[in-house]
Amino acid sequence: MSEMPHSEAAPALELSRVVKSFGAVVALRSGSIRLQKGSIHALIGENGAGKSTLVKIIAGLYRRDAGDFFLEGEPVDFHSTAQSKAAGIAVIYQEPTLFPDLSVTENIFMGRQPTSRLGRIDRKAMKTEATEIFERLGVRIDPDRLTEGLSIADQQIIEIAKAISLDARVLIMDEPTAALSGVEVERLFAVARSLRDEGRALVFISHRFDEVFELCDTVTVMRDGSYVDTMAIADTTVDELVRQMVGRDVTELFPKLPADVGEDVLVVDGLSQKGVFHDISFTVKAGEIVGLAGLVGAGRSEVARAVFGVDPYETGSVTVNGKTLPKNRPAAAMAAGIALVPEDRRKQGLVLDQSVTRNITLAIRGRLAKWGLIWGGLENAASEIWSSRLEVKTAALDADTGTLSGGNQQKVVLGKWLATHPKLLIVDEPTRGIDVGTKSEVHRLMSQLAQEGIAILMISSELPEVLGMADRVLVMREGRLTGEFAREDATPENVMFAATAEQEVAR
Ligand SMILES: Nc1ncnc2c1ncn2[C@@H]1O[C@H](COP(=O)(O)OP(=O)(O)OP(=O)(O)O)[C@@H](O)[C@H]1O
Ligand SMILES: [Mg+2]
Repeated sequence: MSEMPHSEAAPALELSRVVKSFGAVVALRSGSIRLQKGSIHALIGENGAGKSTLVKIIAGLYRRDAGDFFLEGEPVDFHSTAQSKAAGIAVIYQEPTLFPDLSVTENIFMGRQPTSRLGRIDRKAMKTEATEIFERLGVRIDPDRLTEGLSIADQQIIEIAKAISLDARVLIMDEPTAALSGVEVERLFAVARSLRDEGRALVFISHRFDEVFELCDTVTVMRDGSYVDTMAIADTTVDELVRQMVGRDVTELFPKLPADVGEDVLVVDGLSQKGVFHDISFTVKAGEIVGLAGLVGAGRSEVARAVFGVDPYETGSVTVNGKTLPKNRPAAAMAAGIALVPEDRRKQGLVLDQSVTRNITLAIRGRLAKWGLIWGGLENAASEIWSSRLEVKTAALDADTGTLSGGNQQKVVLGKWLATHPKLLIVDEPTRGIDVGTKSEVHRLMSQLAQEGIAILMISSELPEVLGMADRVLVMREGRLTGEFAREDATPENVMFAATAEQEVAR
C-alpha cells in the first residue's frame, strides 16, 4: 500500500484509513480517497473490494469504525443520509432505490418537496424542475407516471436526475452506466463533465475501463478492502490498473473455445407482440453461442422473456428440441430445459434474505429432493461447486445473499441457473457489474458449456463481449431483427450499423 500523492488545493472530501466491519466480516480495512474540486475521480477494484461500502460511509448510510473523514478540510461524522445530503453530497447507489408506487417526480424530490407560500407541496414547481433535468439529460420520461414497471435504464436515469436536482458539490455514482445504452452513457458523461467544469467533485465507479479512461482524470484502486494507489489517468494504462486491482496479470478476456455445432435446440418462428417485437425468427443449435446485440430498449430482453414464457406473445411459436412450448408457461419452459438468467437480477433472480446456498440451489431443489426431503449435503455440494467456479466472494455460504457485494450477487444468480444443467441457456447481460478477473471466468464457463453441447443465447450490450464470444451474431433494433452475421463477418461497424441505422439492413 502506497501513500496518496499530495496536492496543494484543499480537497473537497477526504477519507483516510477508514475501517468498517459487519460482525466478523471486514468490508473495509483501510479505505482512503481524496477528491479534488473540478475533477472526475474513478474508483475501481474487484467485486467485493469495498467500493460501495466506502460510498455508503460517505453517504451517511453506514458509520465508520475507525479512520478520518474530512469535508473541505473540516472533520465530519455523518449519522444519517439526511446529514450528508445537507452537506452537499449526492449519491447514486448501485441498486436503484426508487419507490415503485410514487410518481417519477415524487421520487426525485423524495423527502424535500418544495412548498408554496401557503405551505402546500408545490407540485407544479417539482414537475417543471423534473422536466428541465430530463431535458438536460436528453431523455423522455413522463414525470407524472409511477416508477413501477420502468426499465432499469430509466430507473437509473431517475436516480441521476435526483442527484442533479440536489445541486450537490460532491456527486458519487456507483456503477451508474451498468444499465444504460451508448447514447444514454454519452449524455450522462456530458452532464458529468459540465458539473466538473462548475467546480464540483465527482466519483465514478465502473468495471468498464473504456469509460474510466474516457471520463475520468484521476483513479484510485482498491483491493481487499484497502487503498492501493491513486494515479492521474494520463499516467496509467488498463494493464497496470488490472494488475493493481487483481494482483496478477489477466489475459484472454474472451476464451472462446471451438465447439461442435449440432442440431437446432431452439427454433423461434415469427414471434410478434404488438408494440414490443415483430416477426422474430431465429434458431440456436446445440454447442452454439448466439449473441443478440442491439441498443438498450431494442426488445432483446422482451424476446428472451417471451421465449422463457414469462412475457406474452400474440403470434408465432417457440420450439425446443422439436417440441412446441405453450405460451406464458415458464414451468413448461424450464421442464423443456430452458434456463434464463435475467437482466434485473436483484428483482427477478435472488431471494436476498436467504443464504447463498439456498439461492444457488433454488432452481434444482426438486432434483435434490428425495422423498420430499432435501439432503443438506447435496445442497451444500452444489453450492460449493458453483460458488467456487464463479469465485463468489462471501464470508460464508450460509450468509444472507443481501450482504454480498453487487457483483457477487450477480455471480450467485448465474450459479443458480448454471446448476440446472440446461439444454438452452439464455443469459441477459451475463457479465454486467462483474469485475475483469471473473468476467473472463464467466466467459470460459460459457465456452465450456457450449462444448458440452448446451445451446446458448447471449444478450449483451457490450460489443466486444458479443464479438468475442458468439459463433453467430443477431442484431435487433426497435423490436425487429435487423442483422445476422457469422462470427467471421461480425465487425463492430456492421453490428453497430444494424443496431442503429435508419433503413433496414439486408439479411
Ligand atoms: N451489510 C453487509 N453485511 C455483511 N457484509 C457486507 C455488507 N456489506 C458489504 N459486505 C461485505 O463487504 C465487502 C465489500 O463489499 P462492497 O459492496 O463494498 O464491494 P464493491 O467493491 O462495491 O463490489 P462490487 O464491484 O461487486 O459492487 C464484501 O465482501 C461484502 O460481502
Ligand atoms: Mg459495489
